[in-house]
Amino acid sequence: MSGIRYKIMTDKKRQMVDTYNKSAREMTWKFDDIGARVEDVGRLFGMLGKENPFILEIGCGSGRDAEEILKRTDRYLGIDISETFVSIARERVPRGRFEVADVEAYDFPQGIDVIVSFASLLHSDKQSVAAVLAKAHDALVPGGIFYISLKEGDYADEGVTRTDDFGTRTYFYYRPEAIQELAGPRYKTEYLDRQNLREQYWFTIALRKI
Ligand SMILES: C[S@@+](CC[C@H](N)C(=O)[O-])C[C@H]1O[C@@H](n2cnc3c(N)ncnc32)[C@H](O)[C@@H]1O
Repeated sequence: MSGIRYKIMTDKKRQMVDTYNKSAREMTWKFDDIGARVEDVGRLFGMLGKENPFILEIGCGSGRDAEEILKRTDRYLGIDISETFVSIARERVPRGRFEVADVEAYDFPQGIDVIVSFASLLHSDKQSVAAVLAKAHDALVPGGIFYISLKEGDYADEGVTRTDDFGTRTYFYYRPEAIQELAGPRYKTEYLDRQNLREQYWFTIALRKI
């Protein structure tokens, strides 16, 4: 994997990237069944109330949600640490702009209206999430939104390493309160919802830049 800047490439992070690169095509087939996050995309555009906003998606994966976002704006940029996922997204959504990048080392462009992270910050520890929230705040326009979905659970410093048919990945679980604490007073919570998806607990939080 050449040319990508990483904040810290630990063995666990390398393993996560290798798993996504190796299994990206299979995951795309499997998770396409779930469908795009139509409701979330509708909600975040509603919160903004702006024509043709600039949306950055972190961990865009196969571009499934990019397709939905691009129905409502043409100013979209998706980044992902997995080169294979970015190639799939480019094939699938030719209108989209996609870059291979590690969000933890990424220089966010300025003037973003919404930053979306669907199930991608779950591979980042607290220190990294805090740094991403700070960089995002600098990059968002006043009143801009950081829209995040994460698995809910107790945080462990070393993360939880799991192996399934796709490979091995290390996860960091969070509670919404932990994200609010890391976000600090420079964001206000605009929306918070918890979901039980096949006995896995998730939450969605939308933070508005103050
Ligand atoms: C569980 S998948 C979710 C993909 C997609 N957002 C979805 O909801 O289907 C996690 C995605 O985040 C990406 N990812 C993980 N860590 C990342 C990082 N540090 N920077 C950028 N992308 C990352 C992975 O490569 C993978 O595509």
